[in-house]
Amino acid sequence: MAINFNGRVAIVTGAGGGLGRQHALALAARGAKVLVNDLGSGVHGEGGSTSAAQAVVDEIRAAGGEALANGASVTDLAAVEAMVQQAVDAWGRVDILVNNAGILRDKSFAKMDMADFRFVVDVHLMGAANCCKAVWPHMVAQEYGRIVMTTSSTGLYGNFGQANYGAAKLAQVGLMQTLAIEGAKHHIHVNALAPTAATRMTEGLMPEEVLAVLKPEAVVPAMLVLAHESAPTRTILCAGAGTFEAAHITLTQGIHLGLGADVPEQLAARLAEVTDRSGEQIPQSGAAQGTNEVGKAMAARV
Ligand SMILES: NC(=O)c1ccc[n+]([C@@H]2O[C@H](COP(=O)([O-])OP(=O)(O)OC[C@H]3O[C@@H](n4cnc5c(N)ncnc54)[C@H](O)[C@@H]3O)[C@@H](O)[C@H]2O)c1
Repeated sequence: MAINFNGRVAIVTGAGGGLGRQHALALAARGAKVLVNDLGSGVHGEGGSTSAAQAVVDEIRAAGGEALANGASVTDLAAVEAMVQQAVDAWGRVDILVNNAGILRDKSFAKMDMADFRFVVDVHLMGAANCCKAVWPHMVAQEYGRIVMTTSSTGLYGNFGQANYGAAKLAQVGLMQTLAIEGAKHHIHVNALAPTAATRMTEGLMPEEVLAVLKPEAVVPAMLVLAHESAPTRTILCAGAGTFEAAHITLTQGIHLGLGADVPEQLAARLAEVTDRSGEQIPQSGAAQGTNEVGKAMAARV
């Protein structure tokens, strides 16, 4: 099956450089009309100009594609709504949203300024939420949508110096889980991508020979699959250097201990059974946890 996006309209945030630029170029090369958003900031979120987005638009047009530039900050809901309207006015719909915009403000938690923590959460979490909120009514009305969140291995598993970033990135997975459930009946699929790529964001973090294999282009196929008509929903795809993995949030079978006075001691003694992964499930919704707990409590009554 060829993956093409003929007739589709995509918005890619933070697409003036790095991964977002590659996402926008690839979607356009495969037929999508692409709104290229970027506020043109530095890696820490400072400054701003639309020239980065415009350069990518020029590149798409030079290759025969259709694109528009937008300089909104994803943190500004009114500007994001205007951005979505810009795409709708030009092309009549929005099929795909790739929430890619992001910044870093790394420091160990002990030294981290809470204003920086809040700013990172604002760009990654509120930025993604603003964009989802603005495209949502259009996707519901047209009974079709594909949303790709950009999470991170830091959010999924942690990395030293990135408490703010990790919290904000896993929050996008939380947003994905419920939007996928609420969007299902409207054929809106919501997925998350955890990329590894050498961009200005990773400069100085890894040695040169490692950065050389981590081309941003190598992540793009995962985004294309998650943005396509045939996309799954509620999937966390990891991608880097041409390797693709999936991350899962699972629930173990657990054990029922009831309400006795010594439950803390029993739980401490049997913690290995609680965390044992045999028979674990990937819940279809948060209800699965309660169902498992109530089911075990009911079974213990007889
Ligand atoms: N590079 C990696 O290894 C890696 C790993 C995990 C996650 N990510 C995520 O992938 C995404 C892309 O990162 P990248 O590595 O290409 O970095 P990058 O810095 O090259 O790209 C981020 C882009 O977002 C733009 N941006 C920042 N704040 C914005 C705002 N408020 N509104 C609109 N645009 C804004 C920047 O101007 C920049 O062009 C980010 O969400 C990042 O957190 C990257």
